[in-house]
Amino acid sequence: MNKEELYKSLKTILEGKLSLLSDKPEETIDSTLRALWHAASGFPKSVEEAGKSQLPELAHEQIVNLNKLIEQRLNDIPLAHITGRQSFMGIELLTDRRALIPRKETEILGRKALELSKDISDQKNRVQVIDVCCGAGNLGIAIAHFNINAIVSASDLSQEAVDLTHDNISYLKLGKRIQALQGDLFSAFETDDYFGKTDLIICNPPYISSAKVPKMISEISENEPVLAFDGGMLGTRIILRLIGEAPKFLTSGGWVVFEIGLGQGPFIMQLCERSAFYNKVESVSDDSGNIRVIQARKL
Ligand SMILES: C[S@@+](CC[C@H](N)C(=O)[O-])C[C@H]1O[C@@H](n2cnc3c(N)ncnc32)[C@H](O)[C@@H]1O
Repeated sequence: MNKEELYKSLKTILEGKLSLLSDKPEETIDSTLRALWHAASGFPKSVEEAGKSQLPELAHEQIVNLNKLIEQRLNDIPLAHITGRQSFMGIELLTDRRALIPRKETEILGRKALELSKDISDQKNRVQVIDVCCGAGNLGIAIAHFNINAIVSASDLSQEAVDLTHDNISYLKLGKRIQALQGDLFSAFETDDYFGKTDLIICNPPYISSAKVPKMISEISENEPVLAFDGGMLGTRIILRLIGEAPKFLTSGGWVVFEIGLGQGPFIMQLCERSAFYNKVESVSDDSGNIRVIQARKL
């Protein structure tokens, strides 16, 4: 069987059996097969990167390997765990079970945070950033990667997530401008180095209500950490803490910018607007008009 025939026959198998997830829009039948193909060849790439490179010829044992990887995917192992890669804002990151797989929707927050970081560093020559709930490190890493004047401190409650962030920092050789620490929300930053000195706080918190977490589809609940999703009874536990605690760390004029869940926008906007600590509150919506990112500026 030549390469084209092999591709066609494997694609037919995937078409009959693979269910695609709405929160990973970059994963289609073709892009999945291409990513698995590259992984089987010994050169794993994220699904987005795999779409850009030509498929290599596979030797017999690589074809055997490809069939095994397809089976894993059909058994609901996330594609990003099979390839060990996920693209975030065009950056190739390492991914595994230690942290949430960075989602495409979080690029809305990443782009807004990058824009704010550049506005600030244009004025001050540098920008000091905190990324709390850092997971795989994607948000803080994107800022450090695209803004050479950014100094980023990331943290997560999960030591495993912090370890993965360290791996990504080394993988991308960003160690001089980003560090990662373990701690509950801001606890790693309770020092004079951060009090009133942080220009930008970024956060993609857990925001699913506790009752909904056990009902999430099994591919997610069995492979990604529950800590990444569970936002307490109403899903807003960490968001409320973030809004309340961020001002202590922000400079006057500094911003806190964070992702929220579907439907949480109006309530959280109102909360920020009523807070005595913020003098400007704005939101960013997705293509369907849902508020997904809120930014609030400290007085
Ligand atoms: C939705 S994930 C976001 C991960 C990553 N920033 C991203 O955008 O993909 C939320 C993260 O918050 C972390 N987390 C949960 N509770 C926390 C807490 N109290 N303090 C710090 N991090 C927490 C989880 O371990 C998880 O990594």
